[in-house]
Amino acid sequence: MSPTDPDARAAELVAAMTLDEKIQLVTGFLGMPVQEGAEVGGEGLFGLTDEMTPPPGAVGSDGFVPGIPRLGIPALQLAGAGVGVTSLVPREGGESVSFPSSMSQTSTWNPPLIREFGRRIGHEARAQGINVMLGAACNLTIEPRSGRVFEYHGEDPILSGTITREELLGTQDEGVVASVKHYAANFQETGRFVVNSVVSERALREGELLAFEVALADDGEVPAPGAVMTSYNKLNGVYASENPYLLSQVLKGDWGFRGWVMSDWGAAHSTVESALAGLDQEFPHAHWYGAALKAAVESGEVPHERLDDMNHRILRTLAIVGVLDDTRPAPAKETAAGLETAQRIAEEGTVLLQNDGVLPIAPGFAGSIAVIGSHADVAVPSGGGSAAVRPVGGNPVPAEEGADLPQYWLPSSPLEALRAALPQAEVRFDGGGEAVAAADLAARSDLAIVVASQLTMEHFDVPDLHLPDGQDALVSAVAATGTPTIVVLETGGVVLTPWSSEVSAVLAAWYPGHRGGEALAAILTGAVNPSGKTPATFPVSEADLPHPEVFPMPPLPGREGPAQLTLVNILTEQQGAYFDAEYDEELLLGYKWFEAHGTDVAFPFGHGLSYTTFEYGDATAVPRPDGGLAVTVPVSNRGERRGREIVQVYAELPAEAAAPRRLVGWAKLELEPGETGEAVIGIPAKHLSTWSVEAQRWVLASGTARLDVAASSRDVRVRLEAELGA
Ligand code: BGC
Repeated sequence: MSPTDPDARAAELVAAMTLDEKIQLVTGFLGMPVQEGAEVGGEGLFGLTDEMTPPPGAVGSDGFVPGIPRLGIPALQLAGAGVGVTSLVPREGGESVSFPSSMSQTSTWNPPLIREFGRRIGHEARAQGINVMLGAACNLTIEPRSGRVFEYHGEDPILSGTITREELLGTQDEGVVASVKHYAANFQETGRFVVNSVVSERALREGELLAFEVALADDGEVPAPGAVMTSYNKLNGVYASENPYLLSQVLKGDWGFRGWVMSDWGAAHSTVESALAGLDQEFPHAHWYGAALKAAVESGEVPHERLDDMNHRILRTLAIVGVLDDTRPAPAKETAAGLETAQRIAEEGTVLLQNDGVLPIAPGFAGSIAVIGSHADVAVPSGGGSAAVRPVGGNPVPAEEGADLPQYWLPSSPLEALRAALPQAEVRFDGGGEAVAAADLAARSDLAIVVASQLTMEHFDVPDLHLPDGQDALVSAVAATGTPTIVVLETGGVVLTPWSSEVSAVLAAWYPGHRGGEALAAILTGAVNPSGKTPATFPVSEADLPHPEVFPMPPLPGREGPAQLTLVNILTEQQGAYFDAEYDEELLLGYKWFEAHGTDVAFPFGHGLSYTTFEYGDATAVPRPDGGLAVTVPVSNRGERRGREIVQVYAELPAEAAAPRRLVGWAKLELEPGETGEAVIGIPAKHLSTWSVEAQRWVLASGTARLDVAASSRDVRVRLEAELGA
């Protein structure tokens, strides 16, 4: 063992620790004060009271674990991560770049770009004294109304896991531990403390758990993601934080995970059960660990070796990622570079869903344009809750009074960016509050751009997939003027688009981040050719979903209403009022559901247009040594603009696999006009395998698989066959 061997280093430290020190390292606290007037002071949130102050030594963030100076073990300072470094309550230097939402990140299908994003937030974390980042989340968006869809990475496990992993690894490249969450099956926010997700083992392994498995894979080249956060919900009757199947059998057993498992904030419900099931650290109020864990170790209910293992896992991870012996001074912030990365993600993550040729708008366009709605004169929205980043440059749209959790608009103006990109055009703005006034401006313009938005946040699911606040009617009223209309969607996830046949173009910008306005103007005017593809299906109607409604929480008389939701959740839990959310769609998650039922969709998974066209040549598939395949296909840019194409491969496995057609890999190419490039798509054996519940392992299907080389899940360009297991 070398002196830097992380296991040796951890073992040496654990051997030197007292019982109290070992308990200290596995017991996390809230790292911020919650006082009267603080934005997070919603009653019941994490069970906090007004008297609480931040623990000494905490920088003021979501989580804190005191250090052990005599052994050189640093304090852990934890902050949220999904779209940037969060600062739930104000702290010195806590304003950061707010990056595009995870849906936007995933729409890039560009792992290296997301790795860069991870590095940016890792760097920013260090600049703010944070050494553990609480994200990213790779729960599948199988409930499209979830308030956290903007933090999730779409409906496909391989895509979600791959993109999530890059953020985690990028963060760790900077010497900051990254945690993946919420493990597992945290599909909806409604009743999130009391919901019991019911999912069969095969559906879990080939769906939600596969996303985590991909995200956490240890390839030995760089430290694998170092931490996992459990979810609030129960899974098949057992809380995630004390679930031996999830923690011991799958995560630490089958996947060989060597990092540590922390609870979500308030997600632990026991001392002994949690410790024995595999929970290594509790947050945020020493309810179940702390003194209670010490007593359980002293009484022998929790073996001392298990406490050592918890500590070993934490220390090993700190050593291998570089937190333990980090003597570097905190770096200066790199806000300008962060903004640049944010803009690139927004440019590649915006999806052109529909275009009759109205786009791009020529840079010399000298007519008039009406920009309507969503504070597009000053800002773009971002998602709310613990992932909300306090934006550098401030919030141009003051928050509603009394909001439970933070939600920010970001200082980036689509209107001003468009004016700058189209100097000869007359670009005017209408707030969109009155459809009649908006339509009037549209009628007096050559082009109308309706920016439609939907605010979503942690804790609250949206009631339905319609654009809120009459925006469907607004779009229709503007389109009815006859002025060509472009709709830009700034939403958490997918929404219904009942007006799509009335308008000329539709763009999904998701929450486009701190440079969303600039990115949007670049795409609308063709300075950037759109290349994003949607990681989730846009349905025609909610009736087409596996579950036409969000699973409802049992009502508590007199306590209804969103403002009371947090409190209601806790009270409901105390009364033992759990409810089941039964995911009986089994393997048919997302696009697989719509395909199996032959249902029309508004815009399919993997869809996204460009201002150029791509032609696919003949594809070949050759076996790889690991039992997987390598698919090669020439792709030519037949248009007049440089563009990027995301070439997708879907596999229909041999019949004995009894599995729906699935995405198994993709490649992204950038091509000049007239250029032909080769897309090479590596497909690991696991992506062509199914989970055998009987044998408890992945089984590579044998026989002939059909491979669809496609521009979207429903736009198959080349079909070929390949022998599996050959
Ligand atoms: C959220 C987590 C978050 C934690 C700390 C919880 O309510 O579910 O995603 O990391 O709070 O802010």
